[in-house]
Amino acid sequence: MTKVKTVFACQNCGYQSPKWLGKCPDCSSWNSLVEEQVSPAAERFPHALTISEQDLPPQSIQSIMTSEEGRMKTGIGEFDRVLGGGLVVGTVVLIGGDPGIGKSTLLLQALDQLARKGTSVLYVSGEESLRQIKLRANRIDVAAPKLFVLAENSLEKILDEIKKLKPQVVVIDSIQTLFSLQLQSAPGSIGQVRESAGKLMVVSKSTNVSTFLIGHVTKEGAIAGPRVLEHIVDTVLYFEGDCGHPYRILRAVKNRFGSTNEIGVFEMGEKGLREILNPSEIFLEERPEKTPGSVVVPSLEGSRPILVELQALVSGASFGTPQRSTIGIDHKKVSLLIAVLEKKAGLPLMGQDIFFNVAGGVRLDEPAVDLGVVAALASSHLNKPVLPHTAVFGEIGLTGEVRAVARPDDRIKELQRLGFTRCFLPASNLKNLQTSWQIELTAIRHIQDILDKIFEI
Ligand code: TYD
Ligand code: MG
Repeated sequence: MTKVKTVFACQNCGYQSPKWLGKCPDCSSWNSLVEEQVSPAAERFPHALTISEQDLPPQSIQSIMTSEEGRMKTGIGEFDRVLGGGLVVGTVVLIGGDPGIGKSTLLLQALDQLARKGTSVLYVSGEESLRQIKLRANRIDVAAPKLFVLAENSLEKILDEIKKLKPQVVVIDSIQTLFSLQLQSAPGSIGQVRESAGKLMVVSKSTNVSTFLIGHVTKEGAIAGPRVLEHIVDTVLYFEGDCGHPYRILRAVKNRFGSTNEIGVFEMGEKGLREILNPSEIFLEERPEKTPGSVVVPSLEGSRPILVELQALVSGASFGTPQRSTIGIDHKKVSLLIAVLEKKAGLPLMGQDIFFNVAGGVRLDEPAVDLGVVAALASSHLNKPVLPHTAVFGEIGLTGEVRAVARPDDRIKELQRLGFTRCFLPASNLKNLQTSWQIELTAIRHIQDILDKIFEI
């Protein structure tokens, strides 16, 4: 009989220690170590050896064969693009998001599409009963005969069923509800989550099953429990949005088989999630024209440009310390641009309350939006609307200079498609454009330039 060993694992970061400690030496959180059982590696991962079973010596990279058949298309275009062009066989994908955002709905729809094309798929729910799943499926017209459903949260039983059914794609909804009988800790604890994910990962790799793990998100916004999970899986997607709005954004934050920063846009409706093929139109739909503080920027999200509206509100501070609040864009970046505006363009913003918002629930982290941020701040401060049908893009340096950004042609193309007539862009971008455009293009070298040119008189 193998001797049962235990370790104390930090519930916050996964650090392990042979004895109990009051404070985790790794992440410095207090009272976070909990006893967990460990059995020898060979027992925990019976398939571990089969991953490398081929037992080959090192190979020349030229001699290794690949095939593009390795990708399965779900048929939901937005979803496939975020995955990097379809689901890679034998990979593990983690999908995180707030409760109620639509994770279960999205994956049920994706499985349905796959099953309709003849792929055998299994949906495992540890949260809902079969009847509840069926009710949801009815609502969103999910009825493929090859879609199998299992309501179960014992890891061992799930692995058994996977072995018996041999599906090509498995969804685990959610990883926090699974528990292994070999551990004493409660479902959702870091030990259980890691154990379950680890075993599923091994099965995935050794039998070429593609696995989706749904993960809950903590108050801090990380996938609950373990950052460890993000390291072991192949792809991490976040499903974001505001439950009060119908729009949802699927974003890749890690992808071993595709680009990150790729986003997919969906709308939650009566019949589940619908793809939004023209996100620019949606994000600009409610934009007020001729209003100070509103500016449109073409931002590159992965492979495609999306037009989004930036909104700034600058108003006199009522108390000593001015308030700064931003939604959808990095707080520090806005502070930095405020400082540049103050110092290099002479706008007295330091003492003002400033609120900044990216409309439509999008998150931007591209330098190309800098010029738009500056224009929106100045527009609100001076109470002057920017010229109609006008957009801007460009990166701003600390001396107030405007720098070139990637792929200007794609951005201008999207602006032209949506009827914009004027665009302000970095001078060095304008010089190197590939094609000529009908839009009026104006070169900007310094932030003072944009303040001189962009407002209606
Ligand atoms: P769900 O997929 O259960 O979210 P998650 O698994 O991320 O917790 O989605 C639940 C929400 O979506 C719920 O508030 C109801 C809404 N919804 C619709 O608006 N239309 C639909 O067709 C479905 C199935 C759900
Ligand atoms: Mg759910």
